[in-house]
Amino acid sequence: MSVNSPRGTADIYGEYIKYRDFIISTARELFDIFNFEEIITPAFEYTEVFSRSIGESTDIVHKEMYTFPDRKGRSLTLRPEGTAPVVRSVVEKKMLVPENIPLKLFYIGNMFRYERPQKGRMREFWQLGVEALGSSSTILDAEIIWLLNEIFKRLGFKNLILKINTIGCSKCRNNYIKIFREYIEPRLDYLCADCQRRFKVNPLRIFDCKIKSCKKIVSEGPKIKDYLCKNCSKHFKELISIISDLSINYTISDDLVRGFDYYTGIIFEMASNDLNSAQNALGGGGRYDNLLADFNGPDMPAVGFAVGMDRTALLMRQLGIKYTDIRNKPKSYIISLSEDAGPYIIDVLKQLRNSNIACDIDYSTSGIGSALKKAGKKGFSTALIIGEEEVKNDIITVKDLKSFKQYKVKKNNLVKEVLRITGADQNE
Ligand code: HAM
Repeated sequence: MSVNSPRGTADIYGEYIKYRDFIISTARELFDIFNFEEIITPAFEYTEVFSRSIGESTDIVHKEMYTFPDRKGRSLTLRPEGTAPVVRSVVEKKMLVPENIPLKLFYIGNMFRYERPQKGRMREFWQLGVEALGSSSTILDAEIIWLLNEIFKRLGFKNLILKINTIGCSKCRNNYIKIFREYIEPRLDYLCADCQRRFKVNPLRIFDCKIKSCKKIVSEGPKIKDYLCKNCSKHFKELISIISDLSINYTISDDLVRGFDYYTGIIFEMASNDLNSAQNALGGGGRYDNLLADFNGPDMPAVGFAVGMDRTALLMRQLGIKYTDIRNKPKSYIISLSEDAGPYIIDVLKQLRNSNIACDIDYSTSGIGSALKKAGKKGFSTALIIGEEEVKNDIITVKDLKSFKQYKVKKNNLVKEVLRITGADQNE
């Protein structure tokens, strides 16, 4: 039987697991520092959770959802994103009680979109994200952008572009849509078929088009920033001022609208010029002040973002940004040169594992040279060499795989010596 993984999916293993671990541990540490708590929602929801919130006119709902009937004929959809499920859960479980506000939640999960697969664009992909619900504070918006920026900073990125824009409240947006519609109408014949459909349902979605000629028409059109109401304009200026005080680099990006109908007001995206243009966004988010009420929950504002983990790992690898093993724990590789050393090795394994030191044995008989090479490649910090002489004298030869210095240590002192040689005793 020859079976491949479905198109647009990935098996994540080897080095990518290390990048992923680093991305998750970096983000988790920051979620803690910014006081977010974890939420895990199902991988599928009733279809309307997405269709009504993301919007019927969006590409995601129109052509990218994995929707199927269950055995009782109910329509279910594999989640294409994490915001709508979190809002559904917060409303259903009545989490927004006064003592919980603002409710700050984070999630890590796989998402599903039936897109045309390309490098960095998959049909199953992983996101980590945050949602802060119940406050319209500009400081909260700034904190969310700060957190997004800090994740990428701590991962080691240097040249990312943080784009910020506002799409205004429903009042200024409706006014703008009217003007934008008037601008587009005489140019409709020059837009692609998708944009002509978008024009009918929600002209703002024309901004999502990736086709050059459509993009050009949009870029020459009216800008929402010129139609903001007093409140939205003030909110945006305040945010920009706080972001500047935080020394965060940003660009105000006129034509950023983001492809979800639930957004209101501030939106932002973290992008890289090093990824090709169709999918250069590593993360994005914004305010969605009406979504809780749309789910029949309390009429409260909210803001959040999500980061694409696969794309982030891909770019780290492409740019040569190394993952750091933030725990930096010693890891020992046992190389046996004696056939009768079994019980001796078991005793060594027991000592190390009982002291929480990771270790493994080389089961191959390909010689010490290739075993040492393997240990170095697999990220072990020390090799523990056990031959007849070691067994006879109750010692172990410890090779530091960084400095290549070699030590003979007493078996009973092994744990202490491994910690000392690798410098891990300094981290305690
Ligand atoms: P989004 O911009 O659709 O936002 O997705 C966030 C990130 O997920 C993107 O910047 C990208 O890195 C990654 N991503 C999206 N689609 C794919 C794909 N097909 N393959 C690989 N990576 C992908 C949201 O999902 C919103 N829920 C964010 C949000 C949270 N807004 C408010 N709160």
